[in-house]
Amino acid sequence: MTDHYYVIGNPVAHSKSPAIHAAFAAQTGQDLAYARCLAPLDGFGATVRRLQAEGARGANVTVPFKQEAFALADSLSARARLAGAVNTLVFADGRIHGDNTDGAGLVRDIEANAGLRLAGARLLLLGAGGAARGVLGPLFDAGVGELVLANRTLATAAALAADFGGRPRVCAFAEVDGSFDLVVNATAASLQAAVPPIPDTVFRSGTLALDMMYGKEPTVFLQFAAQHGARIRDGLGMLVEQAAEAFYVWRGVRPDSGPVLAALRGEC
Ligand code: ATR
Repeated sequence: MTDHYYVIGNPVAHSKSPAIHAAFAAQTGQDLAYARCLAPLDGFGATVRRLQAEGARGANVTVPFKQEAFALADSLSARARLAGAVNTLVFADGRIHGDNTDGAGLVRDIEANAGLRLAGARLLLLGAGGAARGVLGPLFDAGVGELVLANRTLATAAALAADFGGRPRVCAFAEVDGSFDLVVNATAASLQAAVPPIPDTVFRSGTLALDMMYGKEPTVFLQFAAQHGARIRDGLGMLVEQAAEAFYVWRGVRPDSGPVLAALRGEC
């Protein structure tokens, strides 16, 4: 009996998740099928219930449904509760369990793939929306030394910092001080080909600049970082690693993400 999984989004046609999970399944010998599912903007809950009734075992959730998935789940993992969003659903015994693997995926990409140790690192996180909220907990769990949170709207950043016990230091883009081991862009600015107006002194030789977005060309943020001596990394590694973590949640088997990421990079 093949187990069925889906990625639910709107739009979803661009999603690389089916290819990633098919590669993981082939690699680990797991008998599963993984397909895209386009949910109507006003029909996420009904879509989940239908897939569940049809016998699906789980689903990934992408834009714009991660908060709705959080509200829909009967139970939540601690990391999903902290993130306020769910990207991985597990269907079992008629119930829906919600998890969030985005932060774990980012941490693993930074540490295992990019080779940067987070323990004690000085980190600048740009953005205070869902993408930033989703990764703060796992970044703190990984032991970051100092975390500066910068956002266009300061009040949003302050509210997010308060939800994390005031641990992130909140700052306006232009007022960010000093250089960092790691600068993560979790804003949506790259979608508009914009760069958050941070001082170029945040980068020094050896700084890792990571944009959660990915595309054929480096984002303008990554181009700016590279011009100032940073090594750059797009969001493709995080995408593959969050998928590997979801695969582990569902199947109890950890796939080898390296060859899958390399194959995707070859296609980009
Ligand atoms: P997501 O779930 O992807 O994080 P979001 O909740 O809409 O999406 O948050 C988008 C983030 O990108 C926010 O931090 C937003 O800043 P504001 O809080 O000031 O809105 C940021 N953002 C969007 N466009 C931006 C731009 N052109 N320059 C800088 N920051 C931008």
